[in-house]
Amino acid sequence: MIYLTGELVEKYKNGERELSLDLGRNVTMVTHELDGLPLDEVRGDFVYAWDGKELWKVAVFDDGLYRLRMMKGKPILEIDGLRMHLVKDFKDVFDYSKLVVRALRIRQSDVVLDTCMGLGYTAIAASKKADKVTAIELSPAVLAMAKWNPWSRELFERKRIEVIGEKDCFDYIKDAPGGKFTKIIHDPPRFSKAGDLYSRKFYTELRRVCKEGALMFHYVGSLGKKKRNIMGEVAARLEECGWKVMKKDERLQGILAKAV
Ligand SMILES: C[S@@+](CC[C@H](N)C(=O)[O-])C[C@H]1O[C@@H](n2cnc3c(N)ncnc32)[C@H](O)[C@@H]1O
Repeated sequence: MIYLTGELVEKYKNGERELSLDLGRNVTMVTHELDGLPLDEVRGDFVYAWDGKELWKVAVFDDGLYRLRMMKGKPILEIDGLRMHLVKDFKDVFDYSKLVVRALRIRQSDVVLDTCMGLGYTAIAASKKADKVTAIELSPAVLAMAKWNPWSRELFERKRIEVIGEKDCFDYIKDAPGGKFTKIIHDPPRFSKAGDLYSRKFYTELRRVCKEGALMFHYVGSLGKKKRNIMGEVAARLEECGWKVMKKDERLQGILAKAV
């Protein structure tokens, strides 16, 4: 598969030949690879893929528009124009995931649950430290994006990562045995899009599937509409459900909590 963006095509047309055909993972000397491809059809800020026969947008219309989009030289997931990654205040797209893994102090013996996999950047970062990472993703469109994204490849190739696709993490957790996990990555869509993943019921179930002393990093987002203090509300709710808030992290826009 060859991946193309407007920026890459422009560079190619300007005579540059040291280019990446896999969204920045590898840079190669392009000789004949782009000969005969319909490069003029690569428009806007979409990511395109050429499979040897056809050129198509790496995007899916499902209950909304799901697509890959390049930011700071790496692909991110966008759903209906909303970015699923915090990138603005970070140098690199992967910085956020690295910092979450560091905040959780993930190490080899950890059994990690990533409730909302997305492109799996956080799950992959966690798997560099922990022996076992289970990542759940509800949306078939997102799973397709992850399968197409060269930067998500480890999700499907690394044995220590188990991807559970087309599954609601709430359902998964309800059926999971108690005390299974030692670290939780909870990076849900924003509150207005996935309220049940911020509910007391959900937090209680999350607590049940964790060992005592387990750590969770919960992305919460910044102030909601009408400057609603979602961070404060979530912190209070977590404390009612067996979690102790260790830190409200303004930079990572989330809460580090401990199962007590
Ligand atoms: C903010 S993104 C996660 C980004 C991810 N941390 C990464 O590194 O790419 C949230 C993801 O949760 C998924 N999602 C939403 N509701 C879900 C649910 N109930 N169960 C599992 N996944 C869900 C969305 O489809 C989306 O891919």
